[in-house]
Amino acid sequence: MTLTEIIFILAGTCTVMLFGVKLICLVMVLAPKICYPLPESFMTSLGKWAVITGGSDGIGRAYAQELSKYGMNVVIISRNQEKLDRAARTIELATGVQVKVIAADFTKDNIYGHIMECIEGLDIGILVNNVGILPSQIPCRLLETADLEEMCNIVLPGMKERGRGAVLNVSSGIAKIPCPLYTLYAASKVFVERFSQGLQAEYRSKGIIIQTVAPFGVSTSMTFHQKPDLVTFSAEDFVRSSLKYLRAGDQTYGSITHTILGWIMQAIPTWVLRSEAFQDNFEEYVKERIRR
Ligand SMILES: NC(=O)c1ccc[n+]([C@@H]2O[C@H](COP(=O)([O-])OP(=O)(O)OC[C@H]3O[C@@H](n4cnc5c(N)ncnc54)[C@H](OP(=O)(O)O)[C@@H]3O)[C@@H](O)[C@H]2O)c1
Repeated sequence: MTLTEIIFILAGTCTVMLFGVKLICLVMVLAPKICYPLPESFMTSLGKWAVITGGSDGIGRAYAQELSKYGMNVVIISRNQEKLDRAARTIELATGVQVKVIAADFTKDNIYGHIMECIEGLDIGILVNNVGILPSQIPCRLLETADLEEMCNIVLPGMKERGRGAVLNVSSGIAKIPCPLYTLYAASKVFVERFSQGLQAEYRSKGIIIQTVAPFGVSTSMTFHQKPDLVTFSAEDFVRSSLKYLRAGDQTYGSITHTILGWIMQAIPTWVLRSEAFQDNFEEYVKERIRR
């Protein structure tokens, strides 16, 4: 056998193995119920309460609603008292669980004492770190962007003591690729991913699940309530799907569609994403979708 033949055979074998692994991953994402079975009592076995930051609207509210359907009491934290009360009433009426609301602004430093007082003594099983701020909904260059502590420190010690719990850190699919025009937002989500990975390594042995959830499009006020379609989920559908992957490891896109989209996005050469032509078309595309 010549050297060229050996190189071709090795390259072919590597390619087949790579696609084989991808195929296995895809099959596992297609069948979460079989690959990552989640008994009905799993959520409440982690604890009686779930805490959701940014829980009065969008994805956070959908987490609060969905976890309450599993029988968990929920604490929702966001800025607007009226929105909080409305969300709490809806959840209480629908499921009969207890809902606590805390009005706090996560851009301020002095909120954690108050939060700690409000949740003291609760058996917290799940923390969803969901608050995220998109500095400008319309894609724009950094210089055109307007001016712009830590829930884990409060909740983790209790989980560590009890040896059970789950922390879901909501990132974004766009953290996986260089994303001009949403530069600050994408960079902050890369921070969330790295933060989550470090925490996972530190607390895995303590029985705590720490997972990054990285959706692409979800129809909420952050995305101008775009009409759900093949790739854009309603918040409720997205959360229902993403919770199925709670035991699927450190990171999840939360759905089959967003997993495939993630793979496609990562296959696009970065020079394309960085090109002026791409940026102009992307900006126009988002503006057009919003106009419609
Ligand atoms: N929607 C998407 O397509 C998408 C895609 C990928 C990732 N994500 C991520 O998913 C998470 C939720 O996004 P969403 O689309 O559900 O957003 P959303 O509909 O705008 O809801 C944001 C929630 O956070 C609260 N909030 C905002 N700023 C806050 C602050 N400074 N302090 C406390 N609470 C605050 C809001 O309530 P108040 O206004 O009352 O404070 C609301 O409850 C974010 O981390 C986002 O980056 C979203």
